[in-house]
Amino acid sequence: MRMVDIIEKKRDGYELTEEEIQFFINGYTEGTIPDYQASALCMAIYFNGMTDEERAYITMAIVHSGETIDLAAISGIKVDKHSTGGVGDTTTLVLAPLVASVGVPVAKMSGRGLGHTGGTIDKLESVPGFNVELDKQQFINLVNKNHVAVMGQSGNLTPADKQLYGLRDVTATVNSIPLIASSIMSKKIAAGADAIVLDVKTGAGAFMKSTEEAQKLAKAMVDIGNQVNRHTMAVISDMSQPLGRAIGNALEVKEAIDTLRGEGPEDLTELCLTLGSQMVVLAKKADTLDQAKQMLEQSMENDLALEKFRNFLRAQGGDDAVIDDQSRLPQAANRVSLLAKESGYIQEMVADEIGTAAMMLGAGRATKESIIDHAVGIFLHKKVGDYVEKDEPILTIHANDTSIEQVKEKLYSNITIQPERVDPPTLIQDIITK
Ligand code: URA
Ligand code: CA
Repeated sequence: MRMVDIIEKKRDGYELTEEEIQFFINGYTEGTIPDYQASALCMAIYFNGMTDEERAYITMAIVHSGETIDLAAISGIKVDKHSTGGVGDTTTLVLAPLVASVGVPVAKMSGRGLGHTGGTIDKLESVPGFNVELDKQQFINLVNKNHVAVMGQSGNLTPADKQLYGLRDVTATVNSIPLIASSIMSKKIAAGADAIVLDVKTGAGAFMKSTEEAQKLAKAMVDIGNQVNRHTMAVISDMSQPLGRAIGNALEVKEAIDTLRGEGPEDLTELCLTLGSQMVVLAKKADTLDQAKQMLEQSMENDLALEKFRNFLRAQGGDDAVIDDQSRLPQAANRVSLLAKESGYIQEMVADEIGTAAMMLGAGRATKESIIDHAVGIFLHKKVGDYVEKDEPILTIHANDTSIEQVKEKLYSNITIQPERVDPPTLIQDIITK
């Protein structure tokens, strides 16, 4: 088999076989296929797309390019959740204990990726003592006992994706739906998921700016999952403004605790119940999404979800007293209000720019080497559609040693107030099942 023939075939719009796709992924991972041929193929895929079969083949070829995690020692159906990323997305912190409290095993491997705020692990590490350095056996034992554990990513998962993503980034081929879908799905499958729930974000703070694009991506991922026997469902949710009110690691832990108590922001609560219901159904703990939602609501009402979070923190060495006394979480030295310059309705809070402001405070990493400050971030008192009086605080900035003038400027230029009423954006824009 020759790579040049595979490129030509795809260039001319023909369908590649499973063997051809494996030849490409294996050769590229091993270094026998050079970057220039891999980038030519990515460009041909960018223009000609992939059939459903090709998408499934490339996904599984990427899964098998490196180690895979075997979670067979954990009883039950392991459902993983993936978000395409957003600002102030506190869902995993809420969902893990919430669905575990109704018996769904949550075996979460997570990273410390780049982002406006930290990843799930960074957020959890704002709880004093919390430890993610578990070995595989401890991790499995904890999930079997408590139904939930989180550990840092270990092992060499999906090396083909790391290489290909890097190549696509510099060859203008990131934005291809089959390549994005296979990239995301391969990572979830390699991490041992039996079933997958996807939160595909849309709007300013998201990878997919329009609902239509998000729907296409979600549909591609749901199809791939179901083709390779990992039941998959997706939610399309709004990310034009940040989710919930808290953006920043310790602030989001506090927000998660409030939400598990049933006292969280409406949008975050609704999204967690929607995604959580899908997880419960895929784990076969309920027959319908409605039934699953009722179970989760009940678990919040009678504090089972909150107690599960307490157990989870304690089991991994965290100070579980933070649940009743949130002053034990890291606190920023300075709190500064951003006051409205005029009265009116909030028309826009540009999610990614507000995320960048949080990162400037130190809530996220600008580079891989940056050190996160768990205490800092932004708390929104107002959201799109709310009325604000002149000189009333729109939000509070939690800062340590950063000079906040630049941050304030960035926030002012990305929050618009207008005299006419504004409808808040629709949070759940679509639900995609098989
Ligand atoms: N996120 C991924 O993990 N992969 C892509 O290709 C794009 C976004
Ligand atoms: Ca939030």
